[in-house]
Amino acid sequence: MKTPEITRFLGDLDRQIHISVIPECPSTNSLLKSQAPEIPTDAVLIAESQSDGRGRLGRSFYSPPGSGLYMSVLTRPDLENADLPLLTPAAAVAVCGAIEAVANVPASIKWVNDVYVGGKKVCGILTETAFGPEGDRFCVVGIGVNLFPPPGGFPPDIADTAGAILDKPVPDLLTRLAAHIIERFFALLPHLPELTFVPEYRSRSLLPGKDIFVIRDSAALPAKALGVDDRCGLQVMYPDGTHETLRSGEVTVRMR
Ligand code: BTN
Repeated sequence: MKTPEITRFLGDLDRQIHISVIPECPSTNSLLKSQAPEIPTDAVLIAESQSDGRGRLGRSFYSPPGSGLYMSVLTRPDLENADLPLLTPAAAVAVCGAIEAVANVPASIKWVNDVYVGGKKVCGILTETAFGPEGDRFCVVGIGVNLFPPPGGFPPDIADTAGAILDKPVPDLLTRLAAHIIERFFALLPHLPELTFVPEYRSRSLLPGKDIFVIRDSAALPAKALGVDDRCGLQVMYPDGTHETLRSGEVTVRMR
């Protein structure tokens, strides 16, 4: 894929956003963070594969060539620090809408940053905030989407949980999906403090009503997910009846 192929689907936005597509790198998030001081505008970096794709909590993100979209978005949002955690759920909403628009399959969100299709994780989001040499703050939102199952299947450690948005390759899917995500994300960005995307985040959320484990300090605490609050926090109740709203972290669904 070449940069012009994606700008073909982007309308006017490509004039305001620096877009580049490269064959491979260790991690688009790491590369874009290192390039950020030289890029004054918003930017998107897409790699056709990553040799060291990174996920949340120090995990890796499997990023083989030919079957996924590995994309990072650089932005300097006009947001209070307290609003930065809204970037990840807003990106999840953008990804779900984009998947439904280009692949016509329903997409849901597992709090806080995973997108699911057909009961499997098809996308993860890793948002990082950093500072340039002048102390200027920037954010890199990394989005990895499994478009098709890789030839030979997913590696054993993720084979049970990972899925793809479609069964087999479709022409232009990667470029159209990337363009839809970019359009939707940059449309939401100026309005994050208004929280207008939160009802959609909530209605797409898979966890409310489910028995879960809250993962904390390598312990798995049983809880029930009750709902998603107006800032995308996960409201949970523990067996002793106490309530908590989680702002970050990790939960897993308890199998019966
Ligand atoms: C997760 O599932 O915990 C988040 C995965 C984020 C993966 C994307 S792929 C593009 C960008 N570059 C990375 O190294 N990670 C993100």
